[in-house]
Amino acid sequence: MPELNLPLSLNYDGALETRLFDDIRIAVAPHIPAARQEAPRDVADAGERRAAGRYAVWNTVHDLFIAQVAAHAIAGLFEDDTAFQFALARQLGDDAAHAEFSLARAAALLGADPLPQVEQGVQEAWDLIGGFALRSWQNFLAWQFHYEHYILARLFVNRRTAQVLDFGHKEFGENRILPDEEAHRIRITQWWLGKLERAEPAEREDWIDSLIQADEDAQRILAPYLRDSWDLNRNATGLDTRNHVALYDAWRRELLATLVRRDPADLPALASLAA
Ligand SMILES: [Fe+2]
Ligand SMILES: [Fe+2]
Repeated sequence: MPELNLPLSLNYDGALETRLFDDIRIAVAPHIPAARQEAPRDVADAGERRAAGRYAVWNTVHDLFIAQVAAHAIAGLFEDDTAFQFALARQLGDDAAHAEFSLARAAALLGADPLPQVEQGVQEAWDLIGGFALRSWQNFLAWQFHYEHYILARLFVNRRTAQVLDFGHKEFGENRILPDEEAHRIRITQWWLGKLERAEPAEREDWIDSLIQADEDAQRILAPYLRDSWDLNRNATGLDTRNHVALYDAWRRELLATLVRRDPADLPALASLAA
């Protein structure tokens, strides 16, 4: 069994995420630039507004589902963990605010009430992963990693290569969503590392193995949903999706290894985004 071969303590923040992403990007997708090279433009015609609206619906569903799962987790799986409740309540409030903003953008871009579509999307998310996410702390954490941490690969690429952006979303996205999401990832990561630190050393390897297994299960369940997100994002913004499967896979491997304090080479083979 591979050893836990990295120190338990980790200064996890956005700067570390950027460093890790750039290491992966240079190795797997060097055509993605280190920083944006050309300014994006606003949506222009009806087709672009429709594509941006559909992507806004996906984002609304993603954030509203997070808020709902966090509410269930506070009242259920983590009813005795006050410290984690603060992190989850913060996430719940922020992501609900993001969802509400995205819903308004979807309505403006589509010229129709997107709520029925959003409700259907959230129901589909419950059917797909809701029961899984609330079954154990390992599953919950794996779900969080997918919904909050791993999607960063796509968001980094979008931030640097999107050609068309909904300018009505830009300011809120940069000034509110970006720092909120970094805070969510930091707090979830800190909770996990604190839990790992308080565990009996003999317990740690079991926990990490079960977390990796849950992460794999989550990847297999979520693969179609995640592939969809790349398609919708590409249709909306024209982001550079060349080699994005390899990029996502390598990013997930690197980040999962970092989060479980192992060398990436010591992780087992992982399911691909394409699987
Ligand atoms: Fe969010
Ligand atoms: Fe979030």
